[in-house]
Amino acid sequence: MSAYSQEIREAIRTVPNWPEPGVMFRDIMPLLQRRDIFRKLIDSFVHRYQNMQLDAVAAIDARGFILGAPLAYELGLSLVPVRKKGKLPFDTVTQEYDLEYGSASIELHTDAFAAGDRVLVMDDLIATGGTMLAACELVRQLQAEVVEVSAIIDLPDLGGSDKLRAAGFDVYAVCE
Ligand code: PRP
Ligand code: ADE
Repeated sequence: MSAYSQEIREAIRTVPNWPEPGVMFRDIMPLLQRRDIFRKLIDSFVHRYQNMQLDAVAAIDARGFILGAPLAYELGLSLVPVRKKGKLPFDTVTQEYDLEYGSASIELHTDAFAAGDRVLVMDDLIATGGTMLAACELVRQLQAEVVEVSAIIDLPDLGGSDKLRAAGFDVYAVCE
């Protein structure tokens, strides 16, 4: 693991048994409070994606917004929030999914992308991969292309990144 990945890893707090018994919750709030590390994190995403000819960042509700917004701003891309069900006011497409602690639905506005747009899907963490996969399905449903899915943390034991790769998506995470 690189020194950078190790630094990011060490800035993440683990809270056992939250939000329910048995879950080791990986909390990125301490990382965000470390202004030097937060800046380094966004800068490294900017560096990774600056030459990928992207059109938009699809940022997943809610922690994905924290990363997707500065990245889209820095790269001059559209920001498309992928929202939990019932929050978007216009016509939507919806996808249900399961996650480590329950199930949920996410939505996109039907006019979120132009056909063929090159989209990065961004979240803080991949666990079972249910959330990312649902977001990717919505992007595809709107005739846009998922260039990569990206996160700070991958929890490989939960199988999400393997599931995403098996579904044909490129996956990037800063640390495990
Ligand atoms: C967390 C996390 C990812 C998702 C990962 O979000 O931010 O979006 O779970 O889990 P999965 O890979 O098993 O789908 P959560 O639904 O807790 O929402 P939040 O960002 O609003 O806290
Ligand atoms: N989302 C799903 N599983 C999670 C975990 N273990 N920590 C933080 N967010 C999560």
